[in-house]
Amino acid sequence: MELLRFITCGSVDDGKSTLIGRLLYESKLLYTDHLAALEADSKRVGTRGDDLDFALLVDGLAAEREQGITIDVAHRFFATEARRFIVADTPGHEQYTRNMVTGASTADAAVILLDARKGVLAQTRRHAHIVSLLGIRHVALAVNKLDLVGYSKEIFDKICGEFTALGLDFAEVTCVPMSATDGVNVVGRSELTPWYDGKSLLQWLESVEIDEAPDGPSRFLVQWVNRPDADFRGYSGRVLRGTLRKGDPVRVLPGDRESVVDRIVTMDGDLAEAPTGTSVTVVLADEVDVSRGDVLAAAEDPPGTADTFQAHLVWMDESGLLPGRQYLAKIGARTVNVTIEKPLQLNEIAVADVHFDTPVPFETYRTNRDLGSFVVLDRLTNATVGAGMIDCALRRSANVRWQTLTVDKRARAERNGHRPCVVWLTGLSGAGKSTIADLVEKTLHAEGRHTFLLDGDNVRHGLNSDLGFTDADRVENIRRIAEVAALMVQAGLIVLVSFISPFRAERALARDLVEENEFCEVFVDTPLSVAEQRDPKGLYARARRGELANFTGIDSPYEPPENPEIRLDTTALSPEVAAGVVVAKLRALGIC
Ligand code: ADX
Repeated sequence: MELLRFITCGSVDDGKSTLIGRLLYESKLLYTDHLAALEADSKRVGTRGDDLDFALLVDGLAAEREQGITIDVAHRFFATEARRFIVADTPGHEQYTRNMVTGASTADAAVILLDARKGVLAQTRRHAHIVSLLGIRHVALAVNKLDLVGYSKEIFDKICGEFTALGLDFAEVTCVPMSATDGVNVVGRSELTPWYDGKSLLQWLESVEIDEAPDGPSRFLVQWVNRPDADFRGYSGRVLRGTLRKGDPVRVLPGDRESVVDRIVTMDGDLAEAPTGTSVTVVLADEVDVSRGDVLAAAEDPPGTADTFQAHLVWMDESGLLPGRQYLAKIGARTVNVTIEKPLQLNEIAVADVHFDTPVPFETYRTNRDLGSFVVLDRLTNATVGAGMIDCALRRSANVRWQTLTVDKRARAERNGHRPCVVWLTGLSGAGKSTIADLVEKTLHAEGRHTFLLDGDNVRHGLNSDLGFTDADRVENIRRIAEVAALMVQAGLIVLVSFISPFRAERALARDLVEENEFCEVFVDTPLSVAEQRDPKGLYARARRGELANFTGIDSPYEPPENPEIRLDTTALSPEVAAGVVVAKLRALGIC
């Protein structure tokens, strides 16, 4: 039976939950039981076609849960005699845009819901715009709550007119006069709208054209590696494009591994070929190393691999995008680090440059929605904050390579007689970071260690003199310092870093830039009241008088470390004792 994937856009207030509830209730088969069976099935090798597709979806979501990645979208499954359906939906008052986008990359159709009393609002226009951007070509405008305007044909016609006048690039827009509460034109046609001779929403869903997936050279996304026993190594996943045939030479991306399709396995036996959209298990002729997220592609025409892109982005988080901050991007079935060079606010849509930290196999969104779109997640909370559609690759670093150097970190450590590391002091202004860092350096220097102290106030005079104290500037300030500190570790030094560094995300980045035993985070823990009382530079007083904007602790946030290597309570320790604690810890860590 045919499978239609669709999304619903609109808020709970527009009647979305009622509508979905009704569709699920009225449909012949609820998938709840079916899913349990599939989950069991998915453990077996080579389930067939759509069923495996369901199973992979379930599995994919389970894998995401395991990785601590949460996608807000709830996928609901239902069926009628004509079709099976997967609707991407999130209950509750969550961000509508976010739910839409995360559910939309595989959708064939969209139902845009609005309240007849309110008509086409800014939110409706935004939904329509995103649906069009996502390349969904079939749209139903469900003009809901028509009972509250007396089933008025005039109001319905006016709303449809306004929507069509948006002039978006859809193959088809069908407007349905509806009352989800009264069940009017949801499942069957209603007599309450005698002037309407079109389809009910469900009739539309049962008959809407499912666009043929774009053809072309084959691409198979590996969603999980199957190894029930030592002799069998199968790769389960979906044919995203083209047809995969037994005997086809394939390239495994990323990288340049090649092999040949030996078997295409399903529950009902082997297949000679698997067309676009089918989910199968592939066995290769050679023992090549393939992992989840890799792409098997027609060897004569593989997709590109790149790390820098121009993309259309939709931002979906209350806190705006901070250029230079590291986020996570989920593309295909892999997760990479990403930075984006454009400030964006909630619900903003823009074209931006996007940098991944690893090259990924990709195609443009136009050619291939699966390999051409990505979701952006917050690194610390794993919440979905944005989504992107690749326009094209930008060849930023294609010609920049890592140079191998003869005199390396190890050679320097040997000569210096100690290991390099970053000692990262974080805390409020006036917490005592610089004083303690200075004392630590004095001790180490006296012992003949090679050290350097990077101090916020000093570096802001030179390297970072172009930066102020907005969130975006602080992100860039710390990003640069993290890079400088990592270079100094390469140079063999013990680097003391004394910056407020208020955000966890950038401190995490600094940690990631060096090796695991080369980073020591020191939380100089001074309560705001104490720092403010000390106020060594008179800055708190000025901030309180409103003369200094974005002052940390006053009108700019400070995110304390959750697991620092050292926490120094400066209300209990003198600077000398605090410095002693740091030096002792460095010895315990085997740094010096
Ligand atoms: S950070 O937040 O980007 O890490 P950094 O450590 O470089 O800040 O600089 C903090 C120093 O700048 C403070 O010690 C203080 O002397 C000075 N300063 C000036 N304006 C501000 C402000 N708005 N917030 C915090 N510090 C400020």
